[in-house]
Amino acid sequence: MTPLRIAVIGSGYWGRKVIREILEIGRSTGQIELHSVVDSSPASLAQCQQEFGSGIDYRLDYQDLVQDPSLSGVHIASPNGTHFDIASRFLRAGKNILVEKPLTLKTVESYELVRLAAENKCVLSVGHIHRFNNGVRELRRVIAEGEIGEPYYVDFRWTGFMNPQLQREVITDLAPHPFDICNYALDAWPEKISCKGRGYRTKQNEEVAFITGEHKGGLMAHIEVSWLDRDKRREVAIVGSNGMAFLDCMSQKLFVEDSSGRREIPVLPSNTIASEIIHFADCIRNSRDSTTYSNHSDGMLGARVVSLLEASRESMFQDRTIPVQLPIMPEIPVRQ
Ligand SMILES: NC(=O)c1ccc[n+]([C@@H]2O[C@H](COP(=O)([O-])OP(=O)(O)OC[C@H]3O[C@@H](n4cnc5c(N)ncnc54)[C@H](O)[C@@H]3O)[C@@H](O)[C@H]2O)c1
Repeated sequence: MTPLRIAVIGSGYWGRKVIREILEIGRSTGQIELHSVVDSSPASLAQCQQEFGSGIDYRLDYQDLVQDPSLSGVHIASPNGTHFDIASRFLRAGKNILVEKPLTLKTVESYELVRLAAENKCVLSVGHIHRFNNGVRELRRVIAEGEIGEPYYVDFRWTGFMNPQLQREVITDLAPHPFDICNYALDAWPEKISCKGRGYRTKQNEEVAFITGEHKGGLMAHIEVSWLDRDKRREVAIVGSNGMAFLDCMSQKLFVEDSSGRREIPVLPSNTIASEIIHFADCIRNSRDSTTYSNHSDGMLGARVVSLLEASRESMFQDRTIPVQLPIMPEIPVRQ
């Protein structure tokens, strides 16, 4: 099998994790290869060179990649505000892309990426990494099989200390995962959103937010996101009519508690980044073969989550509950 050649754009904190995994998957399976690493900062590339050696194609600019026929896909791990511009250029050139979360900053931009991907017959994936978290997958099964009865409410704590941020705010940065996990675990999207958020050290950028999503049938989802809390938590608790489930999304440890006591549900923890990259490669191969294949983390999912982020911030600014309007799938041309 010829290896797929993947470029990584943005080699900061997250991009370097992606590069590490691509190199490791390449070594162990031979299915993919690192095509190149692009970062507009020479310092960031120098750091990569120190970690990954000089035998990699490092570039300061991605323009030449856009038309490169040897490129099979691009993993975009640059700052959130650059996603739309970079992603749309590659999609217009017919390239397959995986964009880190959030897909874009605005719903209309995400929707445009979904349209471009359909028009140019490209794979568009979004980095909703917890779709590949075995703990989250098991949580979904526990709920679907009625182990905690009818779900009443969900509580997310997504916290961890960060120094004051001037270019980012906490809702756009942290809330994509809780929104995505909530949808994956419950197969539902909220109908209304209310949100309170505040920046304490940086008044212009929120550092903590409390978001409440109201779902059809009365289910409520509460999301706490914070860069001020000293405890790093990636936790979800789902309370139902017969018991509750608790998942630590980092350790992938899952517990169910009901009238018979508390028990751990066995989960074999997954390497989420590696699974996400392998799934992206599978999507590229299958789409090239015109095989019907389901992308577990597609652009439409990314667009829907972006619309919830926008609704959250709108609620916070307008101090009112916002009805959610989810983007709907555009007409996808039939593959010839
Ligand atoms: N899936 C996850 O759990 C997860 C976790 C962390 C970050 N992320 C996402 O990854 C992305 C990057 O986050 P990070 O924490 O690594 O940020 P970072 O600031 O550490 O790295 C971003 C890098 O992109 C480079 N860059 C900026 N503009 C560029 C451009 N136009 N072309 C090429 N390179 C450019 C910067 O020089 C920097 O090295 C964000 O979208 C973030 O939301 C995802």
